[in-house]
Amino acid sequence: MEQLMRNAFLFLSKNKALTKLAKRYGLRFGAGRFVAGETIGLATEAIKDLNKKGLVVTIDYLGEFVDNEREANQMADESIEAIRAIGREGLNSQLSLKMTSMGLDISENLVMNNMRRILNAAKENGVFVTIDMEDYTRCEKTIEIFKLLREEYDNVGTVIQAYLYRTEKDIDDLNRYKPNLRLVKGAYKEPETVAFPNKADVDENFKKIIKTHMLNGNYTAVASHDEAIIEYTKNLAKEYNIPRTQFEFQMLYGIRPERQLELAKEGYTMRVYVPYGNDWYGYFMRRLAERPANVAFVLKGIFKK
Ligand code: FDA
Repeated sequence: MEQLMRNAFLFLSKNKALTKLAKRYGLRFGAGRFVAGETIGLATEAIKDLNKKGLVVTIDYLGEFVDNEREANQMADESIEAIRAIGREGLNSQLSLKMTSMGLDISENLVMNNMRRILNAAKENGVFVTIDMEDYTRCEKTIEIFKLLREEYDNVGTVIQAYLYRTEKDIDDLNRYKPNLRLVKGAYKEPETVAFPNKADVDENFKKIIKTHMLNGNYTAVASHDEAIIEYTKNLAKEYNIPRTQFEFQMLYGIRPERQLELAKEGYTMRVYVPYGNDWYGYFMRRLAERPANVAFVLKGIFKK
């Protein structure tokens, strides 16, 4: 049953007509728990609040699967505006973005131009930028673009997904760039030909890449709400004397907020991924797919109104 619901939400996350409707009708149906608001002003308030509590942030202007140049340029402009707000307001925040929102499905030139504009602004404001990883069909291209950008900039990182078979090789291959990577389990629906179908195998591979990347001496962001993974990372750091300045934990806005505070109080860097903007529909559906128990929460939100 859970698998069925998961597949249904992942299917819905890609539905263009529903995305349009969602954009039009704003942040309803409980999505507000996972999304900081539709404007940079509201996101700024959310970040200030998190910073005050000892949490650091990575901000994401929601948007994906852009299919025209004008929209891709607008998305880049929004990211630059977010970077400037971080600088102006003195926020402790990085930036995350998706290559499809920068025009990946249109042309590599467009993506590179937009990314250079963003990374230059980010450099001026002391902001680090992480390239999120999307579905498997975009993985190879995203890694290639990351490598090109990494040759030019030191304030850029990307994400590696533990559910893919190719991932161990990517971790080894990327080591020569000494990259700052966010490691995750992976959020998209992928076929068995490219990704481990069993959760236990994904978890094992997740631990394996955390260990390799940390022991290679690279900065590692362990992005997970899974207590077993968090414990594993803490123990690994103790066992190999890896300083807390070489790794951090990351969680999504609105998910396990009490655990986020605890980890920060324990002295770990705890970064919260704060999405904002009106294109929240695909993001929201993937969160429901990860944990169908969230549906109960959302239903409560609808009926309370
Ligand atoms: P998993 O989903 O296996 O859950 C393990 C346990 O964690 C659960 O049993 C429960 O105890 C707890 N838990 C999980 N979700 C919960 C919830 N909603 N509420 C309460 N408890 C919950 N993916 C991707 O493909 N590309 C990307 O770029 C990113 N970026 C990214 C950034 C950040 C900061 C995070 C945290 C995650 C991502 N992801 C991602 C998503 C990631 O791939 C993955 O889908 C989710 O993090 C869910 O996997 P977990 O590791 O959290 O554990």
